[in-house]
Amino acid sequence: MSTIISVPFADLHAQYLSIKSDMDAAIAEVIRTSAFIRGPFVQKFETEFAAAMGLAHCVSCANGTDSLYIAMHALGVKPGDEVIAPAHSWISTTETITQAGAKVVFVDTDANTYTIDPAQIEAKVTSRTVGIIPVHLYGQPADMDPIMAIAARHRLWVIEDCAQAHLARYKGRNVGTMGTAASFSFYPGKNLGAMGDAGAICTNDKALADRMGMFARHGGLVKGDHQIEGINSRLDGLQAAVLSVKLPHLRAWTVRRQEIAASYAKLLAGVPGVTLPVVATDREHVYHLYVIRHERRDALAKHLSAVGIQTVVNYPVALPFLPCYQRFGHTPAEFPNAFRNQSRVLSLPIFPEMTAAQMDAVNQGLRSMPNP
Ligand SMILES: Cc1ncc(COP(=O)(O)O)c(C=O)c1O
Repeated sequence: MSTIISVPFADLHAQYLSIKSDMDAAIAEVIRTSAFIRGPFVQKFETEFAAAMGLAHCVSCANGTDSLYIAMHALGVKPGDEVIAPAHSWISTTETITQAGAKVVFVDTDANTYTIDPAQIEAKVTSRTVGIIPVHLYGQPADMDPIMAIAARHRLWVIEDCAQAHLARYKGRNVGTMGTAASFSFYPGKNLGAMGDAGAICTNDKALADRMGMFARHGGLVKGDHQIEGINSRLDGLQAAVLSVKLPHLRAWTVRRQEIAASYAKLLAGVPGVTLPVVATDREHVYHLYVIRHERRDALAKHLSAVGIQTVVNYPVALPFLPCYQRFGHTPAEFPNAFRNQSRVLSLPIFPEMTAAQMDAVNQGLRSMPNP
């Protein structure tokens, strides 16, 4: 069978067209003033983004992966330390732990929300544990209250990985405002996306912000004054200008994602074999990804592709089972939920500009999946 229209996974060009004149003018202004690296556009975006997230300081950097690394470096992570992270996330969450010199300690995810299971964290805390990185995966906040309670009991820092969750809320609080620092990605497809790589770390701790800014900029907040050895991880003026144009639209785009998710929930109710996203009480999901579960996920993805519906698997191999972590010798029995979900999760198209006809096509595509 064939659907009437094909549906892309996301449509960045549609978003660009919706704000084209502002976007073109902002880019032209950066070119006119040659403010390519840091400078007024970067400073403006840092101020605006911190305010939008409800945090005092924003340290921009080259991408979301760097933001995690920079934060851990500034928090003093060193060889021998251990950092706790969820077993199912994007590799950035944990590769940066290793880069910072520490050992990755995985904790299984909750079977339904896909975020780190707080009930399993404390058993993994040792005398070497220094921090926890909860990930607000797919756009749903992790269960922060018990995580922060554990962190307080053991004097651990918490970096909230907010790469997929700009403006998501937990018990009325913005993600990023509960931990020690909040890491953000502005990868083009993110809910707030640049036109290239970009990232930021936000915090209310001024001293930490200064250390992070220093490390990201060759170890000095003032040019030529290298207090420490750092790295080069800077946001460029073009990306900052793009992000400043988009930021005022983020709330409306988020609401639109939530409306699409609500429409999906109605349309897709009762589709055989499909489990829809579960949102825990008191959490506001921002639907960076709309992730369903299906026992025959790969066959479903193939069928949807054949009828013109683009899907993505986030993520097909949970972190402990990736070749790069073979050295730990982890087994599926240690992370049953992550292991089970890695072969069942499927991300359906969702983007603010999505039309009712596109949602309908996704519904038809799912309902036309042949039985085994
Ligand atoms: C959960 C998570 N953490 C970190 C990152 C890293 O962001 P970036 O791609 O900007 O380096 C991403 C983005 O893909 C992500 O999804």
